[in-house]
Amino acid sequence: MIRLIAAVDSELGLADDHGIPWQGKIPLDAKYFNDETTEGIIVMGFRTYQEFDKPLHGRENYVVTRPDSGELRPEFTGVDDLSAFLEGHALDLVWVIGGAGLFAQSLDQADELYITQLDRGFHCTKFFPYFRDAFELVSQLGPHVESGISFLFQVWRRTNP
Ligand SMILES: NC(=O)c1ccc[n+]([C@@H]2O[C@H](COP(=O)([O-])OP(=O)(O)OC[C@H]3O[C@@H](n4cnc5c(N)ncnc54)[C@H](OP(=O)(O)O)[C@@H]3O)[C@@H](O)[C@H]2O)c1
Repeated sequence: MIRLIAAVDSELGLADDHGIPWQGKIPLDAKYFNDETTEGIIVMGFRTYQEFDKPLHGRENYVVTRPDSGELRPEFTGVDDLSAFLEGHALDLVWVIGGAGLFAQSLDQADELYITQLDRGFHCTKFFPYFRDAFELVSQLGPHVESGISFLFQVWRRTNP
């Protein structure tokens, strides 16, 4: 089972040039992310890895990177072929946690999308790929409001697996 988990704004924006604009403003989403990804393997892109000061506790943390990017910090494991990695772990629960590069490359292999949908735009420069034609909404919780930001927790499932 391959799941992508992301928080997106109303334009499918993920981040601007400085990172995630709503970082620290919606703690309920941080809790949701932690609770949902407690079981399973974590996969992230190299730039997202650079924003983590430590690995996600109690989970295997994989980083998609080039062999010449240098050594990763302890408890992070490098992956050089994302597609092969996802194929090889098709029977496991895998969470692709971003960023934009990773989501774009893994959407075609994803079974489910865990989307925190924010209700307005944040002038993002990095985006989640368009997905609505191939996935259907199977659950939605909310809206929740924190720091004046309204958001929904949605789960989307591939319509033609
Ligand atoms: N809103 C959210 O839910 C959310 C979630 C996660 C991250 N983010 C944000 O997204 C931004 C990062 O996104 P991003 O697209 O810039 O970076 P990213 O997806 O985290 O990482 C991309 C990097 O990973 C390496 N990489 C990707 N695919 C590869 C492959 N197939 N083989 C080898 N290496 C590969 C690339 O290295 P090379 O440069 O060598 O090509 C690339 O620089 C950050 O600002 C982060 O805060 C947002």
